[in-house]
Amino acid sequence: MNTNASTKLQQLFETRGAIKTIGVIGMGYVGIPAAVLFADAPEFDQVYGFQRDSKSSGYKIGMLNAGVSPLKGEEPGLEDLIAKVTGIDGGENSGKPKFTCTSDFAKIAECDAVTLAIQTPFANPKDLIPNFTPLIEGIRNVGRYLTPGTLVVLESTITPGTTAGMAREILEEESGLVAGEDFGLAHAPERVMVGRLLKNIREHDRIVGGIDAVCTGRACELYGPVLTKGALIPMSATAAEVTKTAENTFRDLQIAAANQLALYCEAMGINFYDVRTGVDSLKGEGITRAILWPGAGVGGHCLTKDTYHLERGVQQLGPDALDWPDDIASLYVSSRQINDFMPSHMLHLTESALQQIGKTMTGAKIALLGWAFLNDSDDARNTPAEPFYQAAIAAGAEVRVHDPWVDPETAPDVPDGADITRDLEAVLRGADAVVIFAGHKEYRNFVPAEVKTLCGCSHPVIVDGRNVADPDEWISGGFVYRGIGRGDKNGHAV
Ligand SMILES: NC(=O)c1ccc[n+]([C@@H]2O[C@H](COP(=O)([O-])OP(=O)(O)OC[C@H]3O[C@@H](n4cnc5c(N)ncnc54)[C@H](O)[C@@H]3O)[C@@H](O)[C@H]2O)c1
Repeated sequence: MNTNASTKLQQLFETRGAIKTIGVIGMGYVGIPAAVLFADAPEFDQVYGFQRDSKSSGYKIGMLNAGVSPLKGEEPGLEDLIAKVTGIDGGENSGKPKFTCTSDFAKIAECDAVTLAIQTPFANPKDLIPNFTPLIEGIRNVGRYLTPGTLVVLESTITPGTTAGMAREILEEESGLVAGEDFGLAHAPERVMVGRLLKNIREHDRIVGGIDAVCTGRACELYGPVLTKGALIPMSATAAEVTKTAENTFRDLQIAAANQLALYCEAMGINFYDVRTGVDSLKGEGITRAILWPGAGVGGHCLTKDTYHLERGVQQLGPDALDWPDDIASLYVSSRQINDFMPSHMLHLTESALQQIGKTMTGAKIALLGWAFLNDSDDARNTPAEPFYQAAIAAGAEVRVHDPWVDPETAPDVPDGADITRDLEAVLRGADAVVIFAGHKEYRNFVPAEVKTLCGCSHPVIVDGRNVADPDEWISGGFVYRGIGRGDKNGHAV
């Protein structure tokens, strides 16, 4: 650490005083709750949500300024908090909003701290080259309007090495200032789950990694006020990047372990859920045998890509130092592949069930229930329902899609011709097979007899990808049942 530079930066922070004005770049699942929670903290005076006025996302600016959430899944407290900090609720901020959304990036110059919560996808995970174009544009805008003594924090999930590497270089190039001397730079990864955004930000511990100790300290000043239960965990910027990518990689790995075991149980004619209960019962000091749930596949923006950020990180930061056998694939990438296989397995289950009633995929009418990748959410990014849909259509099936949460107008990557509707009866009517891809609450209390009446045939198929249907009820109701991990039930007689 350069002591003179750090002293200079420390003095700049002291001259500026406490953080009062904050900018949050990127108004998505992460940026919106982060921004309104900053705005709700009495320690801060003003928060700007910066959103580029793009074709796909520009609509969020008007909605947020009107006090309305663009996120349509169940997000407890979010709608109210947006209304409060914009003053739309007629309360304390009425006429003087603490939060406003804008595409005028020049306002970054007014901010004491700027965070970035921009998407960080991979176009093609196999080449390990992320699409950082939106993030780079965001960082450039911050650099362009950066003033001495500002703190810049990347909240997006990024390849280890990005904060101290690419982000630092762009910010320095655009601003002519020096990171760690003229402005602060840190990574504080977001650890939220859609459906619990506000709760997670307030209650989870917050990893805060600056490029040096002064930057870490300043970033702790930014996050401390929004934490109600969570603790601040300081570390280096690169360690914070590895922590975030590793935590999602591990979750994906654990889901893959459950999925592989579910496939094994199906092959052996065993109920995965019995096995899970049995394994999980071995408890005691130092013993953890918890197993996650298997399912129809993993979706979302994060788990589908963060493994690749971690893999890329080690390639960039330590390729020569990595001791790894040439002939063994990465455990983490294998896990991704297992999870990516699950929609194909759903197709195989559907095909085998249809065969049992003398049908093939060609001409079969399939009711696909749940386009979002998560229960009771509108988040359909990288949904496993999409590869199933494409494969079923390619096999000649007619697929109708129901989702009570997803808005087909704003959902990403809806295939041409996929008419996602909220009319459940219309989707079920005449269906040969009902295939459940999301465990939305609307699908948890189905009455098999009512579904069968809508299907209108004597032995419709039910394929349960989220363990929401009781197999015995459906089988005794006349259905041909298939379920992930249900080797004990998948072969019953009609
Ligand atoms: N969704 C989650 O639950 C979650 C959880 C933890 C971490 N993350 C990470 O946080 C980051 C953001 O994820 P998200 O789910 O909020 O993404 P998102 O796609 O919902 O939101 C990103 C927003 O940024 C906007 N944007 C893109 N480029 C911009 C630019 N240059 N200037 C201004 N706005 C711009 C987009 O239009 C969009 O509104 C990702 O790196 C993700 O991996 C997400």
